Amino acid sequence: MKAKPGLMALGMFIAATASSAWVMADEPRYKTAPVAGEHQNFRNLYKLRCSTCHGENGEGTDHDWPRTGPALKGNPFVQRAPAAAIISVIRMGRTGEQRLYHESYPNMPAFGAEAVFDVDGLVNFLQNDLQK
Ligand code: HEC
Repeated sequence: MKAKPGLMALGMFIAATASSAWVMADEPRYKTAPVAGEHQNFRNLYKLRCSTCHGENGEGTDHDWPRTGPALKGNPFVQRAPAAAIISVIRMGRTGEQRLYHESYPNMPAFGAEAVFDVDGLVNFLQNDLQK
């Protein structure tokens, strides 16, 4: 007996849809690639989420092109502002009229809990280890 290609394709489509629906019901909505030590190590989290714009060690990117963000190391706002003010920049981003720097920088994006789960820990890292 010859299988009909149309029917076979339909069968495969149904099987694929059914199995992915089954998998999706049990999976978390966001899947993040596992990064070694990400959940314990705030330097890794910083490297993952922030360093492309703010530099590997917080030195900023003004030495390079494109310029993507100001230095966070030695930055008086990062060193002295209350944690809540820094948390607000991370959670809300900084765009439009709130921007303080020049126009060659992009906007500072907002990071929700799916990207920065422990914002207190990250701010503690920015104000201490990153400043060393
Ligand atoms: C796409 C690039 C980009 C990424 C990624 C990024 N930032 Fe920014 N960030 C900026 C820019 C640009 C500014 C400056 C915006 C302005 O005020 O003009 C900024 C500003 C800041 C400020 C305020 C600095 C100041 O002097 O006022 C903090 C704090 C900060 N970012 C922290 C972070 C942290 C923490 C992360 C990672 C979770 C991060 N940023 C990721 C681009 C980025």
